[in-house]
Amino acid sequence: MKIIHTISELRATVAEATSAPVFVPTMGNLHEGHLALIRQARGIADQGGWGRGMVVASIFVNRLQFGPNEDFDRYPRTLARDAELLAGAGCDVVFAPDEAELYPEPQGYKVTPPEALANLLEGEFRPGFFTGVCTVVAKLFNIVQPRAAVFGKKDYQQLMVIKGMVRQMAWPIDIVGGDTARADDGLALSSRNGYLSPEERDQAVQLSQALQRVRDLVRAGRAGLPCEGLAKIEAQAMEKLGQQGWVPDYVNIRRQRDLLPPSADELLGSEPLVVVTAAKLGKTRLIDNLEV
Ligand code: PAF
Repeated sequence: MKIIHTISELRATVAEATSAPVFVPTMGNLHEGHLALIRQARGIADQGGWGRGMVVASIFVNRLQFGPNEDFDRYPRTLARDAELLAGAGCDVVFAPDEAELYPEPQGYKVTPPEALANLLEGEFRPGFFTGVCTVVAKLFNIVQPRAAVFGKKDYQQLMVIKGMVRQMAWPIDIVGGDTARADDGLALSSRNGYLSPEERDQAVQLSQALQRVRDLVRAGRAGLPCEGLAKIEAQAMEKLGQQGWVPDYVNIRRQRDLLPPSADELLGSEPLVVVTAAKLGKTRLIDNLEV
């Protein structure tokens, strides 16, 4: 596996490949969830009967998507360990530029996603986050020129924003979602889990439990059992997390197709829904979601 730090070398390497690569963008500090995305990318790259396709992963902690009081400075940079893990999972090339390589001058040109999607949920609590994500992903796509790219469903809204960007820009890239990897107790794997103290780590399972309770209530309603309205189910979930010591930003039941609230009929009908949450435990902010 090659580790490449410059755009010119990455372009030269990709140009030698027999087909356009399959790409997995990351910020490093990798865990089993990322490795599952790499294995998924490996499977896509090898489809089609032309032999082994190229899988490229990027590792870049993107300053543009962090707010002023967020964890940009303390986000773990663990390239040597990440590279070993990536090689074991079937990655061919790691693109790990430094800031001077990717942003040699202030990035004045940015990709701004539509407010209707990007100002909801994560966008409400992390202003500018999706502009930062879209800008770096657009830039990485221009550099890597992949035919497909794999993003984790744990960042549900991010996946949707990227799909919309690629569709509206007519870029010939297939955006593929990868299932959320979970620890044995149900906690969604995340690089930020590493910030949790041992006590917080034990407690962190409560976030996925909150999602399961909400999903079960919706399912019960759909099965004809008495069901509270949307707002009440969400408020109860927020309250319970608060009692357990979390500071929740949101627990919302949304339509999968546009992340807007379902109507009462949609809540109890067959509209595909997703329960999304973000909450802080101590200093650590975690997100998770569950499809209904
Ligand atoms: O999901 C992430 O790790 C980041 O948001 C991404 C897509 C690599 C862009 O920096």
